[in-house]
Amino acid sequence: MRSFFPHPSNHSILFILIILHIFVHLLLNIDSVDCFDPLIKLRTKGYLRKSSVELNVDDYGAKGDGVSDDTKIFRDIWKNACSLPSNPKIVVPTKKSYLVGPIEFPGPCKSKVTLKISGAIVAPKDPDVWNCSDTSKWIYFSRVKHLTVEGGGTINGMGQEWWSRSCKTNASNPCRHAPTAITFHKCNNLKVRKIMVLDSQQMHMSFTSCTKVAASHLNILAPGSSPNTDGIHISASSSVEVKESTISTGDDCISIVSNSSKICIKDISCGPGHGISIGSLGKGNSWDQVQDVTVSGVLLSNTDNGVRIKTWQGGSGYAKKITFQNIRMENVSNPIIIDQYYCDSKVPCSNQTLSVKIQDISFIDIKGTSASEEAIRFECSDTSPCKKLYLEDIQLQSCSENATTSFCWQASGSSSGQVSPPPCFASRDNGIQNYVMPTSLNSL
Ligand SMILES: *[C@@H]1O[C@H](CO)[C@@H](O)[C@H](O)[C@H]1NC(C)=O
Ligand SMILES: *[C@@H]1O[C@H](CO)[C@@H](O)[C@H](O)[C@H]1NC(C)=O
Ligand SMILES: *[C@@H]1O[C@H](CO)[C@@H](O)[C@H](O)[C@H]1NC(C)=O
Ligand SMILES: *[C@@H]1O[C@H](CO)[C@@H](O)[C@H](O)[C@H]1NC(C)=O
Ligand SMILES: *[C@@H]1O[C@H](CO)[C@@H](O)[C@H](O)[C@H]1NC(C)=O
Ligand SMILES: *[C@@H]1O[C@H](CO)[C@@H](O)[C@H](O)[C@H]1NC(C)=O
Repeated sequence: MRSFFPHPSNHSILFILIILHIFVHLLLNIDSVDCFDPLIKLRTKGYLRKSSVELNVDDYGAKGDGVSDDTKIFRDIWKNACSLPSNPKIVVPTKKSYLVGPIEFPGPCKSKVTLKISGAIVAPKDPDVWNCSDTSKWIYFSRVKHLTVEGGGTINGMGQEWWSRSCKTNASNPCRHAPTAITFHKCNNLKVRKIMVLDSQQMHMSFTSCTKVAASHLNILAPGSSPNTDGIHISASSSVEVKESTISTGDDCISIVSNSSKICIKDISCGPGHGISIGSLGKGNSWDQVQDVTVSGVLLSNTDNGVRIKTWQGGSGYAKKITFQNIRMENVSNPIIIDQYYCDSKVPCSNQTLSVKIQDISFIDIKGTSASEEAIRFECSDTSPCKKLYLEDIQLQSCSENATTSFCWQASGSSSGQVSPPPCFASRDNGIQNYVMPTSLNSL
């Protein structure tokens, strides 16, 4: 029996609640948000809108030939749009390609700005163009509220030359930051939808210190061999929903770090890449907390990891109340993994006593094939073992003929339903169980 609820009678209560919820949404004519309370109410009808004005980059003199530098035009049009009181829409027309160098779009703006990218925005190929600018940024939005980015167009980071200069590609290169294609910093009430982000120099899309973000219908694409090209990076943010998107990159499909909470990831297809990661947390002895994360409806194919929590030794804080649910795996190398000994540096990391605490982590309805025999790995800290891990309905078969196995180190928790490979928890947690209540006999 698969259920979040301890008593069958709660099912009927839930059912009534769902019906009520649907009625309320129909009555109020707002888009339903499945993850948590309404993030952003998309009221398009029956709602007084200020008349909006369209600003076309071509009218401002942009060439859009992929060769001429249109950076200044984009800077000017943003400055203008941002000062208008009338909900302006900046239009980047279809079928053209606008070469834009490192650029900042500062807020807050006078009204709600929409950036409609129908054509392509392309980055300079040559990393030297960043000589005088911060190499961690390409397109950078800061302190913007009520921004919508949409339009069906493409943002192309032209990352090839950056990748070949990466120390991960050639160890004799110096290690340095490459730009994140598109960053939203200190944003609030942001919608990003129907955009393709290609071949970023490093990370593709980053939300840092943001609240209320709804991202959907994104298509993020870079070669599996491209270094550090995370798909979506969520840092120090809360109330973030990412859904209905496809991500194929050379690093984490989605990574969630720092002080992030209320994160909902839903209906994502991912691979190649490194899977969905919480962390890394605790790097450089930092204090990090990630909590209230739901990852559901994800297809992972040919990724290096499936769902993962990774922490460095020496950090502190915690990762808790995290649920991975309804996940399908195809030939994934480490389908379920908690790694508290994460070390991604040239020099080996020394053992330390402090560690980020991990507890209340649920893995529910996770099925498919594992490229390695060890399908479940819980490698937890000696000083603060993982607590209240929970496994339910897990069926992970090996791609080879051998049966899959689990590995546990300092991990405790419980399970219910069929779990294959069988769990290997050291002992059951005492007292009250997880916030997700197990229901079957073998968890009693
Ligand atoms: C950037 O710096 C490099 C070396 O420091 C130099 O060769 C190159 O010409 C510079 N590029 C630009 C666009 O200023
Ligand atoms: C790595 O970089 C060094 C110095 O830039 C260069 O000499 C060498 O040929 C590169 N190696 C490969 C495999 O590209
Ligand atoms: C996380 O929050 C703590 C406490 O509010 C703060 O001290 C720390 O700087 C934050 N870290 C990050 C990465 O935002
Ligand atoms: C499965 O994954 C392994 C390791 O990533 C890879 O070598 C192999 O080609 C993959 N198999 C298939 C059928 O894609
Ligand atoms: C760190 O701890 C692990 C496990 O207890 C041990 O195998 C390893 O040798 C230690 N490493 C160092 C550098 O002390
Ligand atoms: C299956 O397990 C056996 C015994 O542990 C091992 O010798 C063999 O290499 C495994 N086969 C594969 C395909 O990994």
